Amino acid sequence: MSTSEFVFGGLLLAAALWHARNIRRKRSRLPLPPGPKKLPLVGNLFDVPAKYQWETYARWSKEYDSDVIHLDLAGKSLLCFAQDSFPMLFDLMGWDFNIAFMRYGDEWRIHRRIFNQAFNLKASKKYEPHELLASRKLLKRLLDTPDEFLGLFRQMAGELIISFTYGIDVQPTNDPYVTLAHRAIHTLVTAAVPGLYLVDSFPILKHIPTWFPGAGFKRQAREWRKLSRGMMELPFMETKRQMDAGISPSSFTSDSLNALKDVDAGDPAFYQEHHVQATAATSFVGGADTTVSALGTFVLAMLANPEAQKKAQAEIDSVTHGDALPTFEDRDSLPYVSAIVKEVLRWKNVTPFAVPHRLSVEDEYRGYRIPAGSVVVGNAWALLHDETVYPDPHTFKPERFLLNGQLDPSARDPEAAFGFGRRRCPGRHMADSSMWITIASILAAFDITKAVDEEGKIIEPSYEYASGVVNTPLPFKSSIKPRSIRAAALIKTEEQ
Ligand code: HEM
Repeated sequence: MSTSEFVFGGLLLAAALWHARNIRRKRSRLPLPPGPKKLPLVGNLFDVPAKYQWETYARWSKEYDSDVIHLDLAGKSLLCFAQDSFPMLFDLMGWDFNIAFMRYGDEWRIHRRIFNQAFNLKASKKYEPHELLASRKLLKRLLDTPDEFLGLFRQMAGELIISFTYGIDVQPTNDPYVTLAHRAIHTLVTAAVPGLYLVDSFPILKHIPTWFPGAGFKRQAREWRKLSRGMMELPFMETKRQMDAGISPSSFTSDSLNALKDVDAGDPAFYQEHHVQATAATSFVGGADTTVSALGTFVLAMLANPEAQKKAQAEIDSVTHGDALPTFEDRDSLPYVSAIVKEVLRWKNVTPFAVPHRLSVEDEYRGYRIPAGSVVVGNAWALLHDETVYPDPHTFKPERFLLNGQLDPSARDPEAAFGFGRRRCPGRHMADSSMWITIASILAAFDITKAVDEEGKIIEPSYEYASGVVNTPLPFKSSIKPRSIRAAALIKTEEQ
């Protein structure tokens, strides 16, 4: 932080404290939810651990016997999790088009409606051919460069989203649209670290001129903004070009734009073209890193529980007899594979805190006061590791979702992995089916085991994750080999 930023920040801090004192006078008399003891001024700022915060919050929930924990982060209320509004991301870097970051309101409702229309359970079925194709391409690449499995998952997720969202044929390597989107998301993840930019604590700083000393963040944001706008505008323009030329296949974008022609475009309650553009780009933000994380967890799970892998492979062989790779038609006959997908989502859930949301008005919860402006986070990790619901919660155990060899309807579905209430992930059906076909295909064709080093010693994975909004396994080694010569031949001969 430069001196000018520091001085400017100091003045703003004084103004914010004065403002907070005035607000405090108007508060209701209800108590705040319980939480760790607060120090004067800084509150709980130093109680928040740097990693795996959801585990600490789950422990506090037990200690205080409350499902809601209040933290005071130097005057800002936070229920469960430390995250604030991000002027750096939204106002300066151009990510304000993303529905996940929007406050509840008309704009959010329109975006959500477009999503639900395209990705509800029935509509998501039409993306299955894209998912099948993406999983088959992945198998071929795993055959060639198995050690790069994490990068291959990333490539697959990117291609899949670009293909179903825009109907664009993706290049086998270095596709410009996929590369641009990954680069843009990298800047998003980089800037989303709480406390990294002073402007996030003092939004007024966003108005300082770009040439001002200490305004390096503004120059940086201007460069990064080109990426976020590019990922939103370029593939969209390509789909529109193809539509004009009459050569555009069915895709989320072309279907949503065609649907627009059937309604009164002047109806303000309905969506407009720019909504489709923003929603399409959001699919990449919502679906790419999350899918990569879940597939990485799947490989780790196979290393942690080799028995589960054997059981799944025996189930698949009993259906395909090793003569074919599984397809969506086999789904009902492969309950163990479905249980593996559920357990992957539960065991190391992708988004332990779901997505934090800001409360616009003061609210009440179980007799506690929830101040306006609080950041509210659902601790999905705590729900998915509750030992009263999922005994032995830290062990990877697909059997917990099965009864007599079939999916157990009374077992609690790990749906919290996709968030809560009206903000729940609208891409969940699509995510679930693409994970299912990818996992079933890999298990049918490959054996996943622990890697060995040059001296033949087994390399134990650390099972460590980069903890962030999306919880992703840190790079690890694994051996991924075709199960047999026949399996390798099947992968090569599969039509694409
Ligand atoms: C394994 C894969 C995925 C996981 C674990 C996941 C998880 C989540 C979670 C936890 C949320 C936040 C819910 C909340 O605020 O309570 C969310 C929101 C969202 N997800 Fe997903 N997601 C996945 C895949 C996808 C895919 C493939 C898409 C797009 C096709 C997608 C699009 C979205 C969008 C647009 C939102 C924001 C919804 C809103 O704020 O109203 N997600 N996701």
